[in-house]
Amino acid sequence: MCGIVGYVGHRNCADVLVDALTKLEYRGYDSAGIAVFEKEEIKVCKSKGRLANLTQKMETEGKPNGVAGIGHTRWATHGEPSDLNSHPHSGDRVTIVHNGIIENYKRLKEFLISEGKEFKSETDTEVAAQLLDFYYRGDPVEAIVQTMHELEGSFALGIVFADFPDIVFAVRCESPLIVGVGENESFIASDVPAIIQYTKDYYLLEHDEIAVLTPYGTKIYDTHYNKLEKELKTADWDVDAIGKQGYAHFMLKEIHEQPEAIRKTIAPRITDGLPDLAECNITLDYLRSLDRIFIVACGTAMHAGIVGKYVMEKIARVPVIVDIASEFRYRDPILSEKDLVIIISQSGETADSKAAMELAQQRGAKTLAIVNAMGSSIARGADMLIYTHAGPEIAVASTKAYMVQIAVMYLFSFQLALAKGKISEDECRTLVKQLEETPDKIAEILEHKESTQQIAASLVAADSLLYIGRGLDYALSMEGSLKLKEISYIHSESYAAGELKHGTISLITEQMPVIAIATQQDLFDKTVSNIKEVKARGACVTLVCTEKHSVEEGVADFRFNLPEFYDLLMPMLAVVPLQLIAYYTSVLRGNDVDKPRNLAKSVTVE
Ligand code: M6R
Repeated sequence: MCGIVGYVGHRNCADVLVDALTKLEYRGYDSAGIAVFEKEEIKVCKSKGRLANLTQKMETEGKPNGVAGIGHTRWATHGEPSDLNSHPHSGDRVTIVHNGIIENYKRLKEFLISEGKEFKSETDTEVAAQLLDFYYRGDPVEAIVQTMHELEGSFALGIVFADFPDIVFAVRCESPLIVGVGENESFIASDVPAIIQYTKDYYLLEHDEIAVLTPYGTKIYDTHYNKLEKELKTADWDVDAIGKQGYAHFMLKEIHEQPEAIRKTIAPRITDGLPDLAECNITLDYLRSLDRIFIVACGTAMHAGIVGKYVMEKIARVPVIVDIASEFRYRDPILSEKDLVIIISQSGETADSKAAMELAQQRGAKTLAIVNAMGSSIARGADMLIYTHAGPEIAVASTKAYMVQIAVMYLFSFQLALAKGKISEDECRTLVKQLEETPDKIAEILEHKESTQQIAASLVAADSLLYIGRGLDYALSMEGSLKLKEISYIHSESYAAGELKHGTISLITEQMPVIAIATQQDLFDKTVSNIKEVKARGACVTLVCTEKHSVEEGVADFRFNLPEFYDLLMPMLAVVPLQLIAYYTSVLRGNDVDKPRNLAKSVTVE
């Protein structure tokens, strides 16, 4: 995905655009660029690489000076990261920035070439710019409407027409876009953090809507050129939420925000000590009727679903199938009206998760979205919705969003178990009370995190490592492993500890560190046996377990002690040292922790 911004008002536009783009760099950082009206002329400045390259370039070559323009930060899909492929892209009288994907760009490009248009880049975006130019006969909205009828795919565009120097135009087809409303200034942005320091008021553009922004207000149209009245929304968090607040990285800050994020997420869903999801449209009668549940998501969100599966099956005795969204959507899943498909997504914009949700709906299943980003596509499309309240997550590596996703998995499981008569109200109250204790326990872990730095130092030179565990610990190890490889670039796998001797143990040497998670009382001895097997073959072992667990001398080289807690809830505690180990390993390797290479915060293309 990419980030797009636009501004028209009274401030220096280049400064506003660059500042807004810094808040969207999590969406992609292969290149950055802006286009600003300098008097009557559109001045484009763009550069491959991070936004810092663009600002440097503007320092040496001069910064466009004006009060209206558009900007972009790119995660490359069509065409390699290069100056030429960087946005903005232009036709003769039109310049645009684009987030999303234009699926029929090849056919359109051939048509435009046959009409005499010349192309400079390999991007699908330039096709949209040239098509706008092709249809432009003096009325920009007319050209935009005609272009929208031709383009297929999901996209959001910021557009400037050379003939209209005080106006920014914008379009949303699927890909997210908001219009910020300030005093004598207007903004567009792919996400609220880009504009929050200027205004908290915004319109959420819907699919197939066109915005015409001037300093004095915004008009919004549908694709039949009808003017629309939109509800003005107000962001319920402020600029502090998107700063680092003294932390070296957003990831570290977000790890520390986890206790508060859990409290904010679960407190509104507990009434009289019991889970209460009625507000989310989830009734006990409905839960009682369920025979089977699917959980579909990508990456970290999918890992939260795996924890959910273990918990739901254990306490509610309902079969749960967890699917990777990109597999689910193409594997012709067997679904019926009786099935519930839970979609988990931080951004609510992940293309595969959204497509999986739509497929489930087409096949008659009910969908429940667990989403962090308010008003996102998945949140708006689902039949039932539980918002997580992690606040904005800026680091590409997800931490607090995972934590609140699993908190919701627990709450939902308790409610399901109660509905199914597998636990009594008293038992349910006890479980809810235990869940409410997790934020304090996590805060305790965060106060004693120093040893995770030593563990990280032991991993820093490794080429590859293994995470092992059983049951809930295995579910958790998947997230530990993803976190590490995502930001440290060290290859790692998570493996069911009992499965090692069926092949994978042949990889174990002194050069292959192992992180073993053993928090489950009933499986502890079995996991320790597996640890001894890898230790005997030379592995350097880090053991994550609770204080009470005793192991013989020499079984583990490093040990991270978690406080005593309830077995069922241990993933919420044990994930914290795993996040910190990944974080410090990445720091020690000198990586850009918050913006790991080749990644973007959410993947809005297939
Ligand atoms: O926004 P989503 O939760 O749908 O994103 C899903 C994954 O792309 C995401 O969790 C990804 O795996 C994270 N970068 C992991 O830290």
